[in-house]
Amino acid sequence: MSRPDLIERLAVQTAERAQAQLQRRLRVIERAEGPFIESNGRRLLVFCTNDYLGLAQDPRLISALKHAADASGVGSGSAHLICGHRREHAELEEALAEWTGRERALLFSTGYMANLGVMQALLQRGELCVQDKLNHACLLDGAQLAGAALKRYPHTDLDAAARQLRSDVEGCALLATDGVFSMDGDIAPLRELATLCAQEGATLMVDDAHGVGVLGTDGAGSVAEASLSERDVPVLMATLGKALGCNGAFVAGSATLIDGLIQFARTYIYTTAMPPALAAATHCAVTIARNESWRREKLNALIQRFRHGAEQLGLPLMPSRTPIQPLLLGDAQHALEASRTLEAQGLLAVAIRPPTVPQGQSRLRITLSAAHEEIHVDRLLEALASLRLADAPV
Ligand SMILES: Cc1ncc(COP(=O)(O)O)c(C=O)c1O
Repeated sequence: MSRPDLIERLAVQTAERAQAQLQRRLRVIERAEGPFIESNGRRLLVFCTNDYLGLAQDPRLISALKHAADASGVGSGSAHLICGHRREHAELEEALAEWTGRERALLFSTGYMANLGVMQALLQRGELCVQDKLNHACLLDGAQLAGAALKRYPHTDLDAAARQLRSDVEGCALLATDGVFSMDGDIAPLRELATLCAQEGATLMVDDAHGVGVLGTDGAGSVAEASLSERDVPVLMATLGKALGCNGAFVAGSATLIDGLIQFARTYIYTTAMPPALAAATHCAVTIARNESWRREKLNALIQRFRHGAEQLGLPLMPSRTPIQPLLLGDAQHALEASRTLEAQGLLAVAIRPPTVPQGQSRLRITLSAAHEEIHVDRLLEALASLRLADAPV
């Protein structure tokens, strides 16, 4: 037999990645406490989680989870459509729909699955799916899985997006964008995209994984901040594992959209429903995220403090007003070394390198959280100053 061995080929690819010094490594976290973790026996101040509101360890969430687990057990036992759809799921869906101003909402086990499911349910083979080049990987994968004609446009380039939509004016078309871009922290031009989609008869989908909880009055996200209705953005998706501090995702929109997803989204139908206790904890997180606006105020003050300090140091900031504050370093090795030097000083901010970001755009993806204090931001700035990043070639 001369057939190549799949596992051996994978090993070669892994070795090539290691040789290019782009290998990804797992780290075991022994303990998490506020903005600190313990790993390899060391305590590190973390600047790379997506727990933007500092809710992941909130005692009220923990108690909601425990309480629901006592009442309903751990696993849901089945898919939603068999017998896994519990009262906790239904109540969370109602709360999410109300929060985002949509008629209905539907839970998915992860954001990745939500995006795959939506694309596959909405798009048929060969239909147009226009996307920002910097969209999250799972939006791009979703279009590919659906067999759609994926056309990407340069980051936030509205003219290019229009040209891509006009490449096929006959068939159905979906335009999908991140609300807040996960590696850059900037916000999509949502109002302009909504106008464009209305003009071109395309459906707009926004993945607000990094906007919900953080932007808009009562934290309803980037779409709410831009005052866009369900008509403007018929498909709104967001995750529950970031600002809400839990896990999973939802899609919100009209009853017609949600009824259709229940029938046709394979990543909704053929998978076990999220644990009901997790749904209960997430419901508690939604209430807190809506009501405790001091968390967003504190977070915004920390963001401003960081940006002000970083500007004074001449650090390579990117244009972002969200908790994602990357420092663009360019070279992958340089980003890795910066991250290692920070870690030696007790700070964790991981280097993001290709293929997650384009070649030559490696960065430290620094994120801030309401769990941080001013003193933590100052410690980060001090450590960054010692790296002499201002002199670095980008
Ligand atoms: C923009 C965006 N969409 C979707 C996802 C996937 O969500 P999940 O982690 O729930 O699978 C992520 C990150 O995880 C993301 O950053």
